[in-house]
Amino acid sequence: MKSARASSKAKLADAPASATPAAHVPAATVEPWEAALAATGIVPGLEALPTVLLVLEKHTLRVVFANPAAEALLALSRRSLSQMTWNDVFLNGEVLSATMADLISNLFQTTRLDLVLERTGQEPLHTHAIVAAPESAPDFVIVELIENEQKIKNEREERIIDQALMNKHLIRNLAHEIKNPLGGIRGAAQLLEFELEQRELREYTQVIIKESDRLQTLVDRLLEPHRHPYIATDVNIHEVCERVRSVVLAEFPQGLEIQRDYDVSLPDFRGDKEQLIQALLNIVRNGAQALREQIARGDARVVLRTRVARKITIAKRLHKLALELHVIDNGPGIPADIRDRIFYPLVSGREGGSGLGLTLAQSFVQRHDGLIECESRPGRTDFRILLPLG
Ligand SMILES: Nc1ncnc2c1ncn2[C@@H]1O[C@H](COP(=O)(O)OP(=O)(O)OP(=O)(O)O)[C@@H](O)[C@H]1O
Ligand SMILES: [Mg+2]
Repeated sequence: MKSARASSKAKLADAPASATPAAHVPAATVEPWEAALAATGIVPGLEALPTVLLVLEKHTLRVVFANPAAEALLALSRRSLSQMTWNDVFLNGEVLSATMADLISNLFQTTRLDLVLERTGQEPLHTHAIVAAPESAPDFVIVELIENEQKIKNEREERIIDQALMNKHLIRNLAHEIKNPLGGIRGAAQLLEFELEQRELREYTQVIIKESDRLQTLVDRLLEPHRHPYIATDVNIHEVCERVRSVVLAEFPQGLEIQRDYDVSLPDFRGDKEQLIQALLNIVRNGAQALREQIARGDARVVLRTRVARKITIAKRLHKLALELHVIDNGPGIPADIRDRIFYPLVSGREGGSGLGLTLAQSFVQRHDGLIECESRPGRTDFRILLPLG
């Protein structure tokens, strides 16, 4: 990463406009950091490297250099970057604060860390970062960013699967624990109601009965995936899509468009069609429910997209062939505060929602050795159902 060669000022030609020495501009306008950076001689060596490299001024975190790979990844020109600090480039730039403090106190010279860097209006950047304070450039740090999509994706998948397994046991036990006494509570309230002479007191027993019924419905839904036997038949994924499409269009008859983008070459596979319909229905219905404003405006859209995926790892198992079913909507996106927890039971961002739809969907898809993932930002939410085909 380092170069011992001395750098000339010409190498910094793309530095901020104020730095370009023009005939009528006195040499004094050259910023001190520019001279200092030029003196280190590190820039020419960084210029040609294919990995993403940024040089930051150690104390201010000002971006004093970005190589072409960094410009491409961040979609910002070197000129724009040179007007920014690290904290302007990334919304959560403070993730580097502790590392910088350690570097400044000379605790170490090079460190590695995984960073998820957030940017306005763009997907977060999953990276492995190497932060180095070169001896030859004591006022600067070099940050190398290596995109880490696959690793992060695998970790996320593993987390989803572990979570689902934990949820499954917890839910089943909890639901049974609630279900048993619930019948007793409801029965006792009914008996009490018969005995009550003052009619107005029945209001209270009715509250007990109604709330018990509500809880009963909830518990029944929680236990649903454990009740259904798995009935395997030959499933055509497009028949599943079509059924769900017509159900949701019947529920949202106006202002919602459900586009089909099918790869008709996808083969049939063995699976439980009813469970897959239920899983997809929960996802598409969520999309439609989130599109309330777009429906009112008349530009609500859900796309059902099917594709073949080859050599894909699901739950640590490599599958030669899988199908990808995307449900993409142009709604407001999943509320940020629940984005990481939507597959947990009882997590809902919707008034009147019970927060079970996605838990059940995940459960049904996992019974097929598949997985549901989600990426969401305002304007685009993409649920991807992966199902192995072989
Ligand atoms: N396409 C989407 N766009 C925006 N938010 C979504 C979308 N899909 C899910 N969500 C959010 O995720 C939450 C959890 O969804 P889930 O289906 O598990 O529960 P629910 O819809 O609240 O209740 P239920 O499905 O049990 O009636 C929703 O409440 C909603 O806030
Ligand atoms: Mg739902």
